[in-house]
Amino acid sequence: MKTHIVLAHPEASSFNAHLAGISQSALSAAGGQCTLSDLYAMDFDPREGAHHYTARKDETAFHVQTEQRFNAENNTTPADVEAEAKCLLECDLLIVHFPLWWFGPPAILKGWMDRVFVYGRLYRSTMRYDAGICAGKKMLACVTTGASEDNCAPNGREGDTRLHLWPILYPFRYLGFDVLQPEVMHGVGSTAFLEGHEGGLSTLDAYSSRWAAALEALSSRPQVQYNRDTDFDETKRLLPGAPTYSPFIQHTPTDHTT
Ligand SMILES: Cc1cc2nc3c(=O)[nH]c(=O)nc-3n(C[C@H](O)[C@H](O)[C@H](O)COP(=O)(O)O)c2cc1C
Repeated sequence: MKTHIVLAHPEASSFNAHLAGISQSALSAAGGQCTLSDLYAMDFDPREGAHHYTARKDETAFHVQTEQRFNAENNTTPADVEAEAKCLLECDLLIVHFPLWWFGPPAILKGWMDRVFVYGRLYRSTMRYDAGICAGKKMLACVTTGASEDNCAPNGREGDTRLHLWPILYPFRYLGFDVLQPEVMHGVGSTAFLEGHEGGLSTLDAYSSRWAAALEALSSRPQVQYNRDTDFDETKRLLPGAPTYSPFIQHTPTDHTT
């Protein structure tokens, strides 16, 4: 099995980097091939923009999808993006390690998605969702939060982390990946810890073991459920009677006004 690991953290001694190290050593020891994109260490530029392109379809205005597609068709995709796209297309499993920053991914990871998910190569109107280019591949996010599990619960003050993760994971579903249930570790480097309210790092040992066990049990890990292409009508609205799996795609909007 080929695994590609993406790490979005600026510090080599961080817990996220530690977890990525566990991924690398466990999956290699299990006989698989493992590659790693340590985005900060690579100095990956997350800003999509004209400065990356020498060949242009339109020199007068930079339209991202126009230039991504034109360059993909002419084999002139920027080299850093091409290398990342190749890793995605060649792997069987993609693992993405990141801390939750302001209820979303670190900007470097979002920018990696903006640039590497190349229009015309990794997706187009006829190649997405069930027909996505990554169909049959698995994707797993390993996420840390500073806030505690209670704080991140559906009724917690920070809001439900599972909901915060939905928009981060959906682009991978868009590319066709089978998205596995994310591993979420709460209370890592929390403000309480930083402010001296917590005793030690012992929870981190438990999390390391939990992650190692999760890697061993990958084949039985449940997937995040999404609607299939056939659940939508020709206008892309959910068909009556189709299942719903999240508040992001539902038959009737949840009314929060009463
Ligand atoms: C810019 C920034 C934003 C953060 N936003 C959140 C947040 O929205 N929710 C949360 O629970 N923790 C948040 N945190 C805390 C991090 O999630 C926490 O420090 C990280 O998961 C610890 O992992 P590490 O030791 O590998 O950095 C934030 C931290 C930073 C630096």
